Amino acid sequence: GPGWTTAGKFPIFQEKHEMPVTATLADRLLSTRSHSEALCQPLQTEDYVVQPIEDVSPPKWHLGHTTWFFEEFVLKPFVPGYSVFHEDYAFVFNSYYESLGERVIRANRGNLSRPSVQGVYKYRRHVTEKLMEFLEGEVPAEACDLVEVGIHHEQQHQELLLTDIKYILGNNPLLPAYSDCGPEEFPKLGAAEWITVPGGHYDIGHRGEGFCFDNELGRHQVLLGDFEIASLPVTNRDMLDFIADGGYRRFDLWHAEGWDWVNREGIRAPLYWHERDGQWQYYTLKGLQPVDPEAPLAHISFYEAYALAEWKGFRLPTEFEWEAAQEAFGWGNRWEWTGSAYLPYPGYRKAPGALGEYNGKFMVSQHVLRGASVATPHGHSRPTYRNFFHPHLRWQYTGLRLAR
Ligand code: AVJ
Ligand code: FE
Repeated sequence: GPGWTTAGKFPIFQEKHEMPVTATLADRLLSTRSHSEALCQPLQTEDYVVQPIEDVSPPKWHLGHTTWFFEEFVLKPFVPGYSVFHEDYAFVFNSYYESLGERVIRANRGNLSRPSVQGVYKYRRHVTEKLMEFLEGEVPAEACDLVEVGIHHEQQHQELLLTDIKYILGNNPLLPAYSDCGPEEFPKLGAAEWITVPGGHYDIGHRGEGFCFDNELGRHQVLLGDFEIASLPVTNRDMLDFIADGGYRRFDLWHAEGWDWVNREGIRAPLYWHERDGQWQYYTLKGLQPVDPEAPLAHISFYEAYALAEWKGFRLPTEFEWEAAQEAFGWGNRWEWTGSAYLPYPGYRKAPGALGEYNGKFMVSQHVLRGASVATPHGHSRPTYRNFFHPHLRWQYTGLRLAR
């Protein structure tokens, strides 16, 4: 199970957010809302606004979008007479919901000086207060479920917020540190061992009472052959050896699409790796540090994960192998690329209405990642969680685990 998350070590990131099991929905809502704001405490106003690449949203946008989500899915439908805080905010903060109308195109999120950072905090306070008032009364079960979705949605954005902040700062030539207590630990990983997993039918997908997203449902049996999976993820040492062996220049290790990407983008190391006087340095939220060979590798694309596995003579596990075996190894520090395409499980049903756009429409041309990362908020990870990204993306804490 989640063996070596760093949860709890860094108050600003984790502890404040750890909730007792008896916490009410309102407690958890308030704690989630304030955690997003705590994550932004180390920022300067200017850091809130920029969008260095299309995939990286401005922190200000995350704060507004998660607020709009509650307004749209909870306050508007369930609070009689609720009038929105600002009638144009839906246009600014709707991410991708076609059924909820026109919106600022994604690439333009960083071009908006208004609403100001202060304006967004005012919006947040207003919506949080209205939600708390609402939760004091008699709340229909359906509304509770939507508040729950809103909490998990905001937690997803907390991870994106932190990785987007890392990109914004790590993309700046001054390489400023975010904080002197970052969540990026360097657990020393010793040698990996092979865990033998017998073939057979395995139940895959979420079950039970706890929250899950719709893409984890449609629990079903999958037939797996015998396989072995590594007890630990791949380390920076493997990447250093891969680089030294010319891995980024050997076409035979790469998919055609990956090889095109390497050449087009001039890729020769993971994201955030900087060569200084012949030594590899790595930009972390605490600033530039030497690459630690014993630490788990992060910030690689699916293409790099595949090439590295090829070079090692092994392969990526499927998402089903990962889920079937996960109790036997520690995870939670790095997202792990799997060999599986992001597809609906048999029996997948998208939710009615706008929430039906949440996951299902992205089930094309993306790969599944399993696990969680140092940026995942406490309590948000589970063994059936399916993360997904396009194969060239690497600004999340993405690594890999080998299988054979
Ligand atoms: C699961 C991280 C791929 O980034 O769009 C946020 C999370 N979904 N708001 C994404 C998400 C809706 C999603 N990922
Ligand atoms: Fe979202």
